[in-house]
Formats: sequence, C-alpha cells, structure tokens
Amino acid sequence: MQELDTIITGDALKILKTLPDDFANCVVCSPPFWSLRAYHTEPQIWDEPPFPCEHDWGETIHTLQHKSGETNPGLEAYQKEKGASDEVGGQFCSKCGAWRGELGQEPSFKQYVRHLLTIFDEVYRVLKPTGTCFVELGDTYASGTRDKTGYDPTRSLNSKEGKNCKGWHIQPNRLTNELPQKCLCNIPFRFAIGMTENGWIQRNTLIWHKLNCLPQSCKDRFTVDFTYIFFFVKSQKYYFEQQFEPLSSSTIPRMSRAISDNHKWSDGAEGQTVHSLSKPRPNRKMAGTLYGGDGTGLHEHSGYYDKDGTPRFYLQGRNKRCVWSLPTKSFPGAHYATFNKELITPMILAGCPQFICKKCGKIREKVVKTVGGTIGQSWHDHTNDSEKGMMGRGGIPDKGEYQRIDNGYTDCGCNAGFDSGIVLDPFCGAGTTCVVAKELGRHYVGIELNPDYVAMGEERLMNTVQQMRLV
Ligand SMILES: C[S@@+](CC[C@H](N)C(=O)[O-])C[C@H]1O[C@@H](n2cnc3c(N)ncnc32)[C@H](O)[C@@H]1O
Ligand SMILES: [Zn+2]
Ligand SMILES: [Zn+2]
Repeated sequence: MQELDTIITGDALKILKTLPDDFANCVVCSPPFWSLRAYHTEPQIWDEPPFPCEHDWGETIHTLQHKSGETNPGLEAYQKEKGASDEVGGQFCSKCGAWRGELGQEPSFKQYVRHLLTIFDEVYRVLKPTGTCFVELGDTYASGTRDKTGYDPTRSLNSKEGKNCKGWHIQPNRLTNELPQKCLCNIPFRFAIGMTENGWIQRNTLIWHKLNCLPQSCKDRFTVDFTYIFFFVKSQKYYFEQQFEPLSSSTIPRMSRAISDNHKWSDGAEGQTVHSLSKPRPNRKMAGTLYGGDGTGLHEHSGYYDKDGTPRFYLQGRNKRCVWSLPTKSFPGAHYATFNKELITPMILAGCPQFICKKCGKIREKVVKTVGGTIGQSWHDHTNDSEKGMMGRGGIPDKGEYQRIDNGYTDCGCNAGFDSGIVLDPFCGAGTTCVVAKELGRHYVGIELNPDYVAMGEERLMNTVQQMRLV
C-alpha cells in the first residue's frame, strides 16, 4: 500500500509508475517550464527504444540558463553553494536517438511537450475516474536559429561572449529553428491539445494573472503578466464542489434597478436566451406602489427582491470565474517562484473531497440550506443535483438576508468513519501543494527529484502541523 502524507524523492515518471491505478482524487502541479531554469535534478533518459541499447551519448548540447541573480537571488546562492555551474545540457544517443537530460532542458519544445505528455499518461492511470487535474504552465518565445550543436554565442542576438546586453547568459535551447525568431511557442496549448488527444477532458483554461509580475525589457510587444492553469478530468461525471467569489460591485445596483416588460433585452438579445439580469422585474424601491412590487403586471417571481424588500439574490457569491489575480509569492528559501497558497486553495477545495466513507466509498457532500425565502427562478435549486448527475453543490454566503447556508454534510449511514481524498503533486518543489492539502484536511503525496527541495517541503510540512496544533 502506498504510504500517504509523504514526499517521495525521485523522477516523476518512474515514481508514478509505482503508484496504483485510481489512486489520487486530485492532481495539482506546475512542471518545470521549457527552457526557463534548471532545477539541478539528476538527468533522466527519455524516448528509449523498446529494445535494449548500450547508449552512446554524443556531444552535450549546452543549454545555459540566464543568470537569475536579478530575479532570483536564492537560486544564485544555491548554485554557488552547490558549485553548480550555469551549464545545463543534454545528449542524444547516437545509436537509438534516446535523450538524456533534465525535463525542461530539451533542445526542442516539441520534445519537451512529448515528455510531459508521457508523464501525464501515467498521471491519468493514477487518477481516479472521478478525479480532477490542474496543471500550471507558462509560455516562452523562440529566439533564433540554432546550429547543429545547439550553441554558438557569436550568432546570438546582442551576444558578447555568450551574454546578452543585460549580462545574462543567453539561452541557446530557446534558439529553436522550429519557429521564426520572436514567435511565441504556444507550449501550454500544444500540451493541452496533446492531453485531449490522449483522452483527457479539458474543462477550463484558467489564467493566473500575476499582480506583481516583473517588468520586462521588451518594447515591441506587451508585457506578459499571466500563466495558464489547465483543468482536466477523466470522465464527464467527476467530483467538483462549486466555488464562489463575491459579486462584482456593479451587479447589486444593476439588480436593484427595475426592468419593464418592454425593455429591449427583456426577451433576450437577438439570438440569445434572456439573461437573468435583463428579466422584467419590479423596482425594489417602488414595492407596493403601482410601479413596483408583486402584482404590478410585471412577471411574477422574476424579481430579485420580495415585496417586503428581502433580496432574493445571493449577496456573497457568484460562480468563481477563470481569471485569478494574485501576486506571486516566493517562499523564503525556495530557489524559484513557488505556488501561491491562495492560488491552489480553490483547486483543492473544488477538486478533492474531504470526507469519503470508509465502508461504502460514498463522498459526503455539503448540504446547503436556504433561509429568508424560497429560491426564485433566478437561482438554480441544487436539491436534486446528484440525482440529475451533477456532483457540484451550492456554497455558503455569509451576508444578506436571503442566503444559502452550510447545513452539514450528506451521510450514507454506514457509520464507519470517513477518510479524506488524496492530492498528488508530481513536481512538488518546496511542497506548497502538500502544505495546502494538509491545511485543508486532505491527504497528499508529493514527488520531487531534487532532494534539497524534498527536505524543504518536509520542513514546511512539519511547521504546518505545529501551527495547526496551536490553533
Ligand atoms: C515549478 S517547480 C514546482 C514548484 C512547486 N509548485 C512549489 O510550489 O514549490 C518544478 C519542480 O519540479 C522538479 N522536477 C524537475 N524534473 C523533475 C522530475 N523529472 N521528476 C520530479 N520532479 C522534477 C524541480 O526540481 C522543481 O522543484
Ligand atoms: Zn541508445
Ligand atoms: Zn458509507
């Protein structure tokens, strides 16, 4: 049996192969991006043929990293301490074409995407049929024409002894001749399309809008201040607890305004179904007069307020949207940007159940009670969601008179106790996913190749346990 609540040291692909089928409820991860930075992991051998080969590793194709001092003092200090040079590289076997190197340092982004997809084939097997999978990926630009050895500083833009005008080493493995110079590689989308071709169902493309993104020196394009997070599932019916966010400040005043039967959008804009905000409704302030309230000839029950002025809408929440604006936060000690804890909290809350019956395996779902009136047509009644094949359920507002409130959980009646779902991060770095899973009462399993990061993750987890005891 696989031990839970642990970080396993090793290569994601190799370790995943040792995990059982249908094991994890939710995967949250950020693999190394292509050609961005080296993590000083043991090189892996990729694309091996089905027959044995005594590999003959050819010339090293260097993939120098830019000096990250300006953006990442932690990494520079780490490299110094380890005596690691900036030089990272990989080699092809001259006999079988296999490649030896770190994930992310492939000479071609197509090769990198292929390696990632191989890993996610294994993630697919390990994920439960009702599981969810969130993958963060950033993009990069093609920056030139690469020669056969992959490295020729004299040919690179602004190069002086292999450094660009900022004194950073250039990144020759971005010098791809697969695309014209300056062209965005579209790596995240190549990956997402590959995933769907391999059987994954893509449910969302989320945007992590980075509020404190670093200034970029470019003057001939816009500054990129986001990365993508893809949300995949294995089957149509999967576990998902709906997440809410506050209504935008303009929605409440809009809802308060009356809309007459003759309003231009009251039957919906041409070719569209009527939007609930445009449905005829009485003016709240005119309730009880000829111009408002029930019985005015306006559509019955379509207003957002009862005639006594009780709001019928759910003040706190609308379904959480796809652009998540949050700062990047570097965890002190980490040599690179770690996940922001707030970024992954909704993924784990939505995608990983907290209570699973130890006997029958049924997931407890939140029961949401409404107070302050009945649900109007404007709000979907979630009472029979499970019967209808939906697994999501409402949320918990904490303001407003008309509310949905948390009313405990469903219970299968087995009385056998509950266990929580398992969150898996195959590139767990400094262990942010594991820490958040722990804080949210979920099991976790992390995989990380660099033992220094494993140690860092374990220390953070120990501190998390101590903090949780204090609360
Ligand atoms: C972008 S970082 C993940 C950061 C993590 N989300 C956090 O919050 O700390 C990617 C991680 O993948 C690790 N890694 C690289 N190649 C790997 C491999 N083949 N197997 C497992 N981990 C690997 C790197 O060492 C690095 O820690
Ligand atoms: Zn070989
Ligand atoms: Zn049960």
